[in-house]
Amino acid sequence: MAEIRFDLEDIMGRESMFRRYFMNTIEGFKNAALVGTARADGHTNLAVFNSIVHVGASPPLIGFIHRPVTVPKQTFTNIQATGSYTINLISKDMTEQAHQTSARYAPDVSEFTATGLTPVYGEKIGAPYVAESPVRFGLHLEEILPIRANGTFLVIGKVAELYLPEELIEEDGFVELSEAGLVACAGLDAYYEPVPLARYEYAKPDLPVRKKA
Ligand SMILES: Cc1cc2nc3c(=O)[nH]c(=O)nc-3n(C[C@H](O)[C@H](O)[C@H](O)COP(=O)(O)O)c2cc1C
Repeated sequence: MAEIRFDLEDIMGRESMFRRYFMNTIEGFKNAALVGTARADGHTNLAVFNSIVHVGASPPLIGFIHRPVTVPKQTFTNIQATGSYTINLISKDMTEQAHQTSARYAPDVSEFTATGLTPVYGEKIGAPYVAESPVRFGLHLEEILPIRANGTFLVIGKVAELYLPEELIEEDGFVELSEAGLVACAGLDAYYEPVPLARYEYAKPDLPVRKKA
């Protein structure tokens, strides 16, 4: 395959839809998750996000990037109003419903009802989880950091509780997510099945790379 080079001017010179697909895809495979929220009156909302990022383990913090809020956005508004939300990883058999949650439904239409996904409630979080999701986090809002560069926001939450199949947890704490049938995402419309390659021992300068048994 012939390599092609793009510089900033090339990227910015492209038509906006091309740039959107290109820059959303080229950064690599990402996690795909559904963020579940509820209004103060209990009305539920669900939307797909692929910018979920590990912020820290102690305390356990997870972040995601929210686009600039130029029109009212339910996820963002509900998180600000209630301080709680859920992150639900997407499995193969719920990919179509998960993708459909990105449609611009009217505020009074719950994406749970619209897509047929099932809301369930945990013990510590008022926001709904997605019953079909095998790995689910309940979070309390920690902070919302505005990103000056482009008007987006980094939304950071502290994990209050989480649910996953027990048999996926290995002795050292590693979770074999590929056995949960989860999908990875590229861009804003492509979903993939991750295949495990290898786990490696902790890298040290004086030792060659070692595969875990
Ligand atoms: C695959 C995929 C990934 C998405 N990731 C994000 C994201 O990381 N951040 C974001 O702000 N919007 C993202 N969106 C768009 C939201 O899903 C969309 O704006 C949705 O309507 C928000 O719903 P709400 O208004 O109910 O909060 C993504 C859409 C798709 C299809």
